[in-house]
Amino acid sequence: ADELEVKWLGTPIKELKRMPECGSVLPPLRDVPGEHTVMIRTDLLRRGRVPVPYPAQFKDTWDDVHVKMPCSSSNLFPVLDEVTAQVLKLTKNNCQNVKNKYELHIQICAILKYSASQAKKWDFTALRLYCTKVNRKHPIPLLKGGMNHSITMSQEQVACLLANAFFCTFPRRNSRRNEYCNYPDINFFRLFEGSSQMKIEKLKTLMCYFKSFTEQKPTGLVTFTRKSLDKPLNWTSSQTQLTKLHITCEGTIEDDGHGMLQVDFANQFVGGGVTGSGLVQEEIRFLINPELIISRLFTEALDPNECLIIKGTQQYSKYTGYSHTYQWGGSHRDTTPRDGWQRRCTEIVAIDALQFKNFLEQFNPDKLNRELNKAYCGFARPEERSQNLAAVATGNWGCGVFGGDARLKALLQMLAAAEAGRDVAYFTFGDSQLMTDVHKMHSFLTQRKVCVGEVYDLLGKYHSSVCKSCPSRRPDVSLYSFIYQQVGSSPAPDDSTRRHVPG
Ligand code: AR6
Repeated sequence: ADELEVKWLGTPIKELKRMPECGSVLPPLRDVPGEHTVMIRTDLLRRGRVPVPYPAQFKDTWDDVHVKMPCSSSNLFPVLDEVTAQVLKLTKNNCQNVKNKYELHIQICAILKYSASQAKKWDFTALRLYCTKVNRKHPIPLLKGGMNHSITMSQEQVACLLANAFFCTFPRRNSRRNEYCNYPDINFFRLFEGSSQMKIEKLKTLMCYFKSFTEQKPTGLVTFTRKSLDKPLNWTSSQTQLTKLHITCEGTIEDDGHGMLQVDFANQFVGGGVTGSGLVQEEIRFLINPELIISRLFTEALDPNECLIIKGTQQYSKYTGYSHTYQWGGSHRDTTPRDGWQRRCTEIVAIDALQFKNFLEQFNPDKLNRELNKAYCGFARPEERSQNLAAVATGNWGCGVFGGDARLKALLQMLAAAEAGRDVAYFTFGDSQLMTDVHKMHSFLTQRKVCVGEVYDLLGKYHSSVCKSCPSRRPDVSLYSFIYQQVGSSPAPDDSTRRHVPG
């Protein structure tokens, strides 16, 4: 009975570092050509004030290194039809006050839902102009494969872009057969298709965001950083010891990992099916923090050695359920403190795991390296000192839709976090057996001072002596029993570390 009560194991979560407490002082925010595009007037940035866009005049670019904007003079939009004219009339009547703007969103949404099959052919030129009018800005660079580049924009600019996405105004983005074939979908048309309850709940969640925005404009900034690892790590030679682990079968990354580096179990096309029918960890996160969605506008598919880091997004909605049982749970008031650049201290890193159809495949050295380097790219901040780095808040990365083994992935993430100099808060999402097993392995390795390189070599050994010759679909010796056997003849240590028994 005692065993059933255990909700967490390892280091108490209070002892893990979070932002803003653990962070170093930020340098002044400035635009650095080729490195950091800042779309606001940094000299006018003030806490509590809506940032001023920069430059003051829209710079019209239509090339293959920037986002093609709806308001560009090069955008050849189709002619107005009757419905558009009607919508236009609505716009004219209703734009007087902000409350009605929300009504407008709702009405359009209703029109779109009502005639899903025709919606794709509709033209939203007027709305597009209406929406972009307020948003004169820097051309937005595309974050292409291999680039190390950041974009900082205001939450207001993000909202304006998202309103355009909602109305499907981004040119050349309605089919994947053109120059944007290696980018995620950004126009929302697929969200309006079909009659599933899941779509309705997704729309409710997004409407909550637009409503909140029109009622009270957020005043912060958001930074999107594409980052690549220039050279893969030499894992086998690493003498690094494992860092601390807090593991729990209760709670979630977003609720209990506040101020930590929160992992997005991503698709290589960031946001996955958020504008379509997907509704698991990544899509849910993008719905409750919709500012994340705009990364789809400019982020090319992630390469194996790349990640996308998003700092400063706000949570606007709560939710209940998961996947088919997902429901919008009302609006959320985000009280996360802001950093010196007026960003919410919420850092999310999109790392895409590999999808495995065959269980044994993931123990292949190539795949192990790929996943380790991917996680390391997401976790490491070579420019920061370890004492300034928040813990990683993660869980069963790649182990839901993508079919990976949670015990292997937990170990790989612990190695990557150790190498990056960060502690780990691991959320097993209700799985208490997994909590016990991973904690036991972590204590075993820590007590025996088994370093990252040794664990890595054990993984290789497991592949060559168990997986390679395995005749069935599943190995007959599990990874953890193999490690226990190899590291010592002595059995796994008793679970004598501190545990928490509520009540
Ligand atoms: N906090 C902690 N753990 C969670 C949470 C949460 N909020 N939500 C889910 N989990 P999955 P994948 C656990 O399937 O396998 C998307 O479409 C839960 O145990 O979302 O990497 C992406 O766009 C769940 O089973 O991640 C990709 O296309 C597990 O995390 C694809 O799914 C894995 O969640 C990625 O699939």
